[in-house]
Amino acid sequence: MLHISASPRGAASESLQIANTFLETYRDTHPDDQIATWDLWDGTLPEFGPAAAGAKMTVFAGGTPDGEQATAWRAATDTFARFAAADRLLFSVPMWNASVPYILKQFIDVVSQPGMVFGVAPVTGYTHLLAGGNRRAAVVYTSAVWGPPLGPQFGRDFQSTYFGDWLSWTGITDISEIRYHPTLTGDADEARRQALATARDTAKTF
Ligand SMILES: Cc1cc2nc3c(=O)[nH]c(=O)nc-3n(C[C@H](O)[C@H](O)[C@H](O)COP(=O)(O)O)c2cc1C
Repeated sequence: MLHISASPRGAASESLQIANTFLETYRDTHPDDQIATWDLWDGTLPEFGPAAAGAKMTVFAGGTPDGEQATAWRAATDTFARFAAADRLLFSVPMWNASVPYILKQFIDVVSQPGMVFGVAPVTGYTHLLAGGNRRAAVVYTSAVWGPPLGPQFGRDFQSTYFGDWLSWTGITDISEIRYHPTLTGDADEARRQALATARDTAKTF
């Protein structure tokens, strides 16, 4: 079990609190499983800049990266391996500006590589290389202003639509969602209580 956290807010984080509750139940109900947490803000996520993007295009064209590109490609490959080693994944994902925090997009850009996450054929399109295994994902989505019943004057959800689509694209289709969207007029304590209950229930059978 790997928990990947995209909130930088530490003890103040709603998504982390919900994820930690999930993990407490998971630990109780899956005593033989190893559990690791990866805080994406801890400095271990490599950047994906000019050398890495160059390496990706080199690999895409059937070549082998060298020099700076090789170093960047190794960092991306190692990061993919860290992610792909887990067959149970828990993501905590706050809404940032209607979408996901940029550190999570950085994670996606680092690990989403040809031959690792996807293949692509000119006529038939993408293949999803993490499909067919035993992988499952649970995602904690939180926001403060936007909520499912609200109209576009409170923003739109490009958070779960984008991230859920990315997970499916990798081939991970067994996805559970745990949501905390109290909105500015809702009962935050009741919404949190419900989210924590859903987290416990989901973890039991995960
Ligand atoms: C940089 C930033 C951008 C945010 N953008 C939105 C937003 O577009 N819509 C929204 O409803 N809440 C937004 N929020 C509020 C957070 O989504 C909300 O407080 C969430 O529960 C934070 O999760 P966390 O406590 O785990 O960090 C934003 C918060 C931050 C820090």
